[in-house]
Amino acid sequence: MTQKIFIKTFGCQMNEYDSNRIYDTVKKIGFEKTDTYENANCYLLNTCHIRDKAKEKVYHEIGRVKKTFRSKQKPLVIIAGCVAQAENQEMLRREPYIDLVVGPQSYHKINDAILNHLQKKKKIEETEFDAITKFEYFSKIKNNAGNVSSFLTIQEGCDKFCHFCVVPYTRGPEYSRPFQEIIDEAKYLSEKGSKEIILLGQNVNAYSEGKNRLSNLIMEIEKIKDIKRIRYTTSHPKDMTEDLIDVYKSSQKLMPLVHLPVQSGSDKILKLMNRKHTIKDYFYIFEKLKKINSNIEFSSDFIISYPGELEEDFNNTLSLIEKINFINSYSFIFSPRPGTVAADLDLIEKNISVERLEKVQNKLYENQINRNRLFKNQIIDVLVENLTDDKTHTFGKSEHMTSVIFNGNKEHIGKIVPVKIKEFNRTTLFGELVKDLSKKVA
Ligand code: SAM
Ligand code: SF4
Ligand code: F3S
Repeated sequence: MTQKIFIKTFGCQMNEYDSNRIYDTVKKIGFEKTDTYENANCYLLNTCHIRDKAKEKVYHEIGRVKKTFRSKQKPLVIIAGCVAQAENQEMLRREPYIDLVVGPQSYHKINDAILNHLQKKKKIEETEFDAITKFEYFSKIKNNAGNVSSFLTIQEGCDKFCHFCVVPYTRGPEYSRPFQEIIDEAKYLSEKGSKEIILLGQNVNAYSEGKNRLSNLIMEIEKIKDIKRIRYTTSHPKDMTEDLIDVYKSSQKLMPLVHLPVQSGSDKILKLMNRKHTIKDYFYIFEKLKKINSNIEFSSDFIISYPGELEEDFNNTLSLIEKINFINSYSFIFSPRPGTVAADLDLIEKNISVERLEKVQNKLYENQINRNRLFKNQIIDVLVENLTDDKTHTFGKSEHMTSVIFNGNKEHIGKIVPVKIKEFNRTTLFGELVKDLSKKVA
């Protein structure tokens, strides 16, 4: 009898990639994916530890599962991801409903852990750092995501130790996957129908394997005929090297949106955060890329109210947002994380932080809507991802990653089509397919 597994994913794109690879892995021992957790035999929570309350969220979710399964056979409950790594044994002690705890570097052991548990009913915790073995194992199992736009993890972990961040502790040291293994995975994804590859890493532009860097990888993936678009995320300004900047001159497929988190507009705060880059460095990258292609836009992550942030530092962040004209960005109030250098620093008052966050978000939203307004009555290229939920329209992404909804049909899925933009809101462009140009569909 096939068993059904349901995975709920929190956190970053790397967790999404991992969840898909877990589905590919557990298939080998007879588990099939289900989208409704109520009929699952196995409930896996892929967790994120980046901000406060991450742990509580997990116990809350488990409480919900417990309730649903009160009168049915209990599913196998697995906690994976960064909270699993950070909390390990403690989770099994605190919540006996949990059966297995598996950290992000141990997914190659998940089948053995499940089988072992099913046979011996033993609670198991696997949280060793072993990225090499994990990726070696994954490379033997095909990535069957097959989405129009697919994630491909090329690098994992972080050696930078920004003072606010748990990633170096939950994902371990930087590790770059072998070049050829990545190319093979990209080719396979293309054979399965992917048209866009999003290269992933906690520090994706720190990718380094022998002489190969992210720039070589992009140019090699560019040779795969049916891959039409390439993106990468998340980058660190310090690793935005000249060869990577130059790829924007030579690549035809690299998209013109650079997600380059800056965190703060104040050099003082960047230093306190241990970011290892200055605002001047950031402008250098910005200006160089804009010179290569003025259509390139920037998006970023911001941490608001980092301990020590004065009004003046905060105003520098606002003015940076104005100067760079960031779009599609994320902003969060600083959240102290256990075990990090900034864990015990004095916090800025909550009402000040909320006010600052609101100001930053309003500025970012304003940029986004102004940017979208420019597209009204313009014809833009859209990579079509799927039908909308009600099946009446199609949706896809612009070159700058903005969602576009238009009157296409399922024939258009996986193609790049011209769409004339008629309306817009902050997050989405709405348009009509340009029929007489559709012969040019890629
Ligand atoms: N490696 C990327 C970089 O260097 O910018 C960031 C990866 S991190 C998974 C994603 C984002 O989470 C960060 O850019 C930061 O803005 C946010 N973040 C990390 N730790 C945080 C904390 N303690 N409080 C609030 N936001 C945090
Ligand atoms: Fe976290 Fe990114 Fe800093 Fe690494 S470089 S510690 S992932 S914010
Ligand atoms: Fe969260 Fe871990 Fe990603 S802490 S952001 S899931 S690397």
